[in-house]
Amino acid sequence: MKIVTCIAPVNIAVMKYWGKRDEDLILPINDSLSATLNTNFMCAKTTILASPDLKENKFWLNGKEESFEGKRLQNCLREVQRRAKDMNPDVLGWKIAICSENNFPTAAGLASSAAGYACLVSALAKLYNIEGEISDIARLGSGSACRSIYGGWVRWHKGELSCGEDSVARQVVPSSHWPEMRVLILVVNDKKKKDSSTSGMQRSVDTSDLLLYRSDKIVPKRMEEMITSIKNKDFHNFAKLTMQDSNQFHATCLDTYPPCVYMNDVSHSISGLVHKYNELFDENRVAYTFDAGPNACLYILEKDVEEFLSVVNYVFPPPEVDQVEYLTGMPLENRKIKND
Ligand code: ADP
Ligand code: DP6
Ligand code: CO
Repeated sequence: MKIVTCIAPVNIAVMKYWGKRDEDLILPINDSLSATLNTNFMCAKTTILASPDLKENKFWLNGKEESFEGKRLQNCLREVQRRAKDMNPDVLGWKIAICSENNFPTAAGLASSAAGYACLVSALAKLYNIEGEISDIARLGSGSACRSIYGGWVRWHKGELSCGEDSVARQVVPSSHWPEMRVLILVVNDKKKKDSSTSGMQRSVDTSDLLLYRSDKIVPKRMEEMITSIKNKDFHNFAKLTMQDSNQFHATCLDTYPPCVYMNDVSHSISGLVHKYNELFDENRVAYTFDAGPNACLYILEKDVEEFLSVVNYVFPPPEVDQVEYLTGMPLENRKIKND
């Protein structure tokens, strides 16, 4: 019998991946860039048991049994086992039980598929003793997962080959390069989204002209500017590019037919608040980015966190009565909003 456990944190994209050129191999239409959180504050934890006594393969996600036959799970497992062949024939012949849990909302636009599949593939790699590149295997589970294999600032190169061999993630700089950087997550709604990222982006590829323009004409140049701003620790420009990219991604979602509507009124009021706050200083001190969901991810430097959080709590006042719920994190959508 063999048991392994792994943890993988989420990553928050500042240049978004949206659209595939190959659905099965999960090959994207543009490069993307993110930072992987270097805490376990939002992470997946996966344990795998392999035993000659198990009768069948099993998979639990957040305590609920799920099908083991899902295409993405099968693709990851097949590829890890292919690379592991000859290494440990005993373990390879045993059935496995996979148990994975996220310590944050699943399928709510907070990158659960990224942490989830990065963790699953890392655990499988540990189980079968494979070494070397595994970001391309994590990619087969969920595109964004390939970036959570590495820490720090990570670029997913879309690659040119049709086999996907060069569609891998690479670290641009480690998190120690910009140690003052912080991420704040404002949970607007923690429910499962209506359109999964997979189905949403597929519809965008099929129907949005703006998406093609974005991937061909905007992303390549913006990517170089973004990397320069990170290397120079130029927060003002980094923030501008991050917010522009989030806005353009959501514009392509609205250009999709029927549209994918991920941001809601509260999301838009957060983006408005960030712009108002930045205008006070005549420079960007906070950057918002929204994935495929209403929740806000904010990049901010450590020195500005306390002041900005006090502004958030002024605009979205925590409820006075039920302090317990506030302390455990009440979604902003459920709070009364001050408009002045
Ligand atoms: P998100 O915005 O949270 O990434 P997605 O629509 O991209 O949402 O993906 C959600 C799906 O990812 C879940 O329905 C599930 O299939 C898969 N997933 C999430 N967490 C895990 C996990 N820990 N292990 C395996 N699969 C996971
Ligand atoms: C908006 O990686 O979840 O978060 O590859 O179909 O699993 P699949 O999609 P997924 O898409 C993530 C989209 C995004 C942007 C990003 O993380 O780059
Ligand atoms: Co996802």
